[in-house]
Amino acid sequence: MGLGADRRQSPGREDRMVITGSRPIERRYQTCLAALSPRGQDHVLRWFPELNPAQQAQLLDDIESIPWDLVEPLLESHVRQVPPKVVPANLEPAPVWSRAPGSGQKRLYAEALELGRQMLKEGKVAVLTVAGGQGTRLGFDGPKGEVVVTPSGGLSLFGLFAAMLATARDRYDAPIPWYIMTSPENHERTEAYFQQQQYFGLPPEDICFFAQGMLPAFDFQGRLLLAQKHRLALAPDGHGGTLRALVENEALLDMHDRGIDIISYFQVDNPLVKPFDPLFIGLHAQAGSDMSTKVCAKADDHEKVGNVCLHDGEVVVIEYTDFPDEYATARTPDGRRKFDAGNLAIHLLDTWFVDRIVGQTFQLPFRRAEKAVPFVDEFGSLQMPTTPNAVKLETFIFDALPLADHALVLEVDRAEEFSPVKNATGVDSLEWAQRDQVRRACRWLEAAGVHIPRRPDGEPDCTVVIAPSFALDAEDVRERRSELPSVVEPGGQLYLS
Ligand code: UD1
Repeated sequence: MGLGADRRQSPGREDRMVITGSRPIERRYQTCLAALSPRGQDHVLRWFPELNPAQQAQLLDDIESIPWDLVEPLLESHVRQVPPKVVPANLEPAPVWSRAPGSGQKRLYAEALELGRQMLKEGKVAVLTVAGGQGTRLGFDGPKGEVVVTPSGGLSLFGLFAAMLATARDRYDAPIPWYIMTSPENHERTEAYFQQQQYFGLPPEDICFFAQGMLPAFDFQGRLLLAQKHRLALAPDGHGGTLRALVENEALLDMHDRGIDIISYFQVDNPLVKPFDPLFIGLHAQAGSDMSTKVCAKADDHEKVGNVCLHDGEVVVIEYTDFPDEYATARTPDGRRKFDAGNLAIHLLDTWFVDRIVGQTFQLPFRRAEKAVPFVDEFGSLQMPTTPNAVKLETFIFDALPLADHALVLEVDRAEEFSPVKNATGVDSLEWAQRDQVRRACRWLEAAGVHIPRRPDGEPDCTVVIAPSFALDAEDVRERRSELPSVVEPGGQLYLS
């Protein structure tokens, strides 16, 4: 729609246009109009004349941020049409390395462990937390990393990861940097939270916050939507956007400057994560893998996790929503689940691999997500649809796995490393994650010879929390045996820090 057509909706617009006296705004406006008109998208400038200068600048910012080269080809294939869900017919289970060495692997594993430790000591590993999601399922109003997650001691997810990092920095005597990906929606609040917490005692120069990219939402006809008269409806571009954001925000450059070879990637929602896992790091490096991933046995056939599989020799992840039932329920001849490798969203990526993926053209495939997106209609009223009216475009980080050489898959014990906080109640809730922290702490203590009271159903009859400042794993606890009580009383509380 051109300016002339706008006049119909907004009579007298020239009188109110703030752009006349402001060359830069006017120039920007003309450039945006020139980008939008041939694409049939200039309706988003409909209310421009009645906006104040700050709002006009905001709307132009939003429009200028649209990467048309990425988005335009998707309008036909992913927005106006629903791309077919193609699940390969010849999927096989991914070959999986186990946490404990098999026969004949003892030496290989011992060397991998030593290599991993060495790489940590040499400062070749950085950690990266993706925290750009909106946490809508959890119902928490703010960055998910602020959720207090320990059953006692008051550590938030960010606080817990910071404590792990502080311990690992001491142990390896290396300035392991921490990269935190936010989204424009929670970036400022996340940074403010760290400031308020005084960076949990970590040096601020070793914590780098960067915001992921946003992409516009489109209606089913492929038209941009306005969230407000001066804002496009924008949404985070998925955690695959981490790779693009690392490059665009020069975080990857910063990693290269610091001599980082490996990025230890994990989601903000998992308090049991072990981001400094020397065995995983060493096996990854030994295998010459570009990207490695951790999996655990699925809880049931239809658990809401990605399925790590093999297709034509490449490791692929098929999300549970796309995984056909015949695969989900398939059994091996001895009756076990055939596709049993659940994606924990814990990966190692080589920094040079990220360079390659983002390269000249971003290589991850886009996905279509249908969402109910509030929008301003042509009469200026805000509509709040309750059913999906729009398409968001996202990429997923695990789609980098098939692009990786020698992708390595390591199976770990769920009880040791995975209990994500996703839902307000029930499965994958805060309550479950706290229960799993206590269970793990009790196992670690028992392995060190401490008597743990248990109820008839086998659950610990006590609340035990082991802060990362005390121990990162069962082995650390064993080494500090002399500091432990011999018994925890029934109903007792123990906080080790
Ligand atoms: C995800 C994986 C699933 C895996 C599971 C393990 C996808 C599509 N699925 O499911 O295969 O088994 O985790 O817990 O990822 N995030 C961003 N920016 C975004 C989108 C997400 O930073 O644009 C972050 C969120 O903050 C969150 C994480 O990515 O930490 C997971 O995103 P979510 O969409 O909740 O995926 P899940 O359904 O949890």
